[in-house]
Amino acid sequence: MKINHISQLNPDTKVIIFSFLQDDNFETHLQKVSNDFKLNLELLKQDFKGDLKDFQIAYSLNNQKVILLGLGKNPNSSDIIKAFRTLFLKQKSKLSNEVTIDVQNLPDNLIEYVVIGSMLGGYNLDLYKTEDKKTFPIFEKNGLINILSTSETTQKAIIRGKAISKTQMQMFDLMNAPANKKTPYILAKWAVDSGKKFDYSVTILEKQQLKSQKLDALLAVGQGSEHPPVLIIMEYKSPEAKQKVGLVGKGVTFDTGGISIKSSTNMHLMKSDMGGAAAVFGTIELAAKLKLPVHLVGIVPACENSVDAKSFKPSDVIGSYSGKTIEIIDTDAEGRLILADGLNYLVKNYQPDTMIDLATLTGSCVATLGYHAAGMFTNDDELAKNLSKAADQTGERLWRLPLWDVYKEDISSDIADVRNYSGKPMAGAISATKFLEVFTENHQNWAHLDIAGTAFGDIEFAPQRTGTAFGVRLLLEYLENIL
Ligand code: BES
Ligand code: ZN
Ligand code: ZN
Repeated sequence: MKINHISQLNPDTKVIIFSFLQDDNFETHLQKVSNDFKLNLELLKQDFKGDLKDFQIAYSLNNQKVILLGLGKNPNSSDIIKAFRTLFLKQKSKLSNEVTIDVQNLPDNLIEYVVIGSMLGGYNLDLYKTEDKKTFPIFEKNGLINILSTSETTQKAIIRGKAISKTQMQMFDLMNAPANKKTPYILAKWAVDSGKKFDYSVTILEKQQLKSQKLDALLAVGQGSEHPPVLIIMEYKSPEAKQKVGLVGKGVTFDTGGISIKSSTNMHLMKSDMGGAAAVFGTIELAAKLKLPVHLVGIVPACENSVDAKSFKPSDVIGSYSGKTIEIIDTDAEGRLILADGLNYLVKNYQPDTMIDLATLTGSCVATLGYHAAGMFTNDDELAKNLSKAADQTGERLWRLPLWDVYKEDISSDIADVRNYSGKPMAGAISATKFLEVFTENHQNWAHLDIAGTAFGDIEFAPQRTGTAFGVRLLLEYLENIL
């Protein structure tokens, strides 16, 4: 599909979309559209109020299809994306191969989101279907979306919108891929391919190297699987970079719980336990694609938490990259173990100015915030402020939770330096973060985002839960704000 910028409406256009903000200009805008296309204004007024995601189709006597799309009162970027995504998703079977979107009434900075939403509307979930695979002309090779605008920044918005949505859709694919199509090596291969394509460096530490460098916590979690663990290291450095930001993402390709096995009811959802990895992959790929003036280091410890005679067991005492020993109480608290090695590897080898990790870490965070917000933990108020600001802009909500030292008791162990679980079903998201903190070497500018509820969302675009690429636009926005 191509997206073009046009500054005048082609009179032969067969399908044209107008979007409506519920502001003071709503009526005038509606009047103008009904005049230009000879539509019945009174009937339109009755049926179309411009509510977010509401759309109305009208036909002109000139064989033109006019779609009026509501954007509500004060839409943020995710509202715009949702409105266009819903429209294209619902209408794609009825669209020919060319559509024009008039964005002349929208502020310039929102055009990018129109592009993202339209592109995402073409996302196909049926990755592994051999029958009933549907194709839609607008999303095929010669599909064309014209963006009608007189703004000079339109071309830039199109380029950004395409870049972002393409990366997001790859993250959807990775998230939605089942465990047998998504081993730690396959994640590593994704990173290597992306690095080649967008010119950033990717290094993979395989089992032997993990052993010689003593990433013992990552090795312990991965030891019960047929698919060996890897550490994926990505680095993108712009020549203009003034800041070094380190990202760590949990890459558990499937979480059975290990010997502390999960109940089977919802176990299939645990193919999404690499949501943190997807956020890191997506952010680095986009930073490189868009050539952000930053030095970014991304670390993804990737493994499968499986059940086997070789699996690590509750009561085991394991080592870690930091040298600290860990008593295993529950093998299902595996995310914090691999992040411990990932975080420690990052601080020791790269000394980032700022360090952010993302992980589908705890059910406790889902119980607290549901599917609508991720938990944010940080001791740095400035970092909290900057992340919250970015979150408000992208609509990927964050809510700050405490990191007080009283919670440290939960992870103190009698026989090792720390234990991986308190054994009590209380304040689980907080004590998990206190555990991670032990491995940050007291880094003063660190944030942990628990995205267990938001990475694999219960969203309107799919009948079942599906990948959201949560964190990608958020981190991109955060980076662009601080640079
Ligand atoms: N991957 C899970 C957390 C999770 C739960 C992600 C629900 C997405 C949705 C994590 O590895 C886990 O199993 N956590 C346990 C920790 C407990 C055993 C201390 C949990 O939260 O129950
Ligand atoms: Zn687990
Ligand atoms: Zn997990």
